[in-house]
Amino acid sequence: MRDQGRVRLRDVSADDIALIDAWDADPVLKGEFNDFGQPPHSIRQDFEAGKIVGDDHGLLVVERVADAAPIGTVSWRAVHYGPPPDSRAWQIGIALVPEGRGQGFGAEAQRLLADHLFATTDAFRVEASTDVDNIAEQRALERAGYRREGVNRGAQVRPSGRHDLVLYARLRTDP
Ligand SMILES: CC(C)(COP(=O)(O)OP(=O)(O)OC[C@H]1O[C@@H](n2cnc3c(N)ncnc32)[C@H](O)[C@@H]1OP(=O)(O)O)[C@@H](O)C(=O)NCCC(=O)NCCS
Repeated sequence: MRDQGRVRLRDVSADDIALIDAWDADPVLKGEFNDFGQPPHSIRQDFEAGKIVGDDHGLLVVERVADAAPIGTVSWRAVHYGPPPDSRAWQIGIALVPEGRGQGFGAEAQRLLADHLFATTDAFRVEASTDVDNIAEQRALERAGYRREGVNRGAQVRPSGRHDLVLYARLRTDP
């Protein structure tokens, strides 16, 4: 679908369901910053209902171009700062498997996702929140063209406690 050199974003296929479900069920693969201590949720029902991508949310596979291996997912959901559609923004998420981390793929995938959302929707703002301690994600977002906007104090509860999040955003008019 969207290809920027070393990774591409593509639609979820039937062959991906078991893999994505397994990633979601494994706290190590998911990573501590995406682990909310909740029971795993299969995407099978949404896939069969054609609801993996909808008007207010979506999920794509991050595929390594070199070997066409799926190495993670990116997702988005609507957040509203006022009446839609003008004040609707996309909040994105990402999770790469451990073997896909630390090589710059996260920055590429999140740049591609913002490009995709600006190209396919009217949204003016694509944003991402990440733990103040998640330095890899903060660096990846900066390299992907997102700008740091501030800290949302005490915004997120995970099994390890309540955490501050850093908010990043890329605007349609950003360079
Ligand atoms: C967060 C994530 C998407 C980042 O993608 P990535 O491809 O691994 O990141 P990169 O290889 O581009 O590394 C980004 C930068 O952070 C640095 N970095 C990586 N791990 C780091 C660490 N533990 N401490 C400090 N810096 C770190 C890298 O050196 C790199 O720096 P550079 O831009 O100066 O080269 C990926 O690691 C991941 O999926 N992690 C698990 C899930 C997760 O945390 N998702 C985000 C939840 S909000």
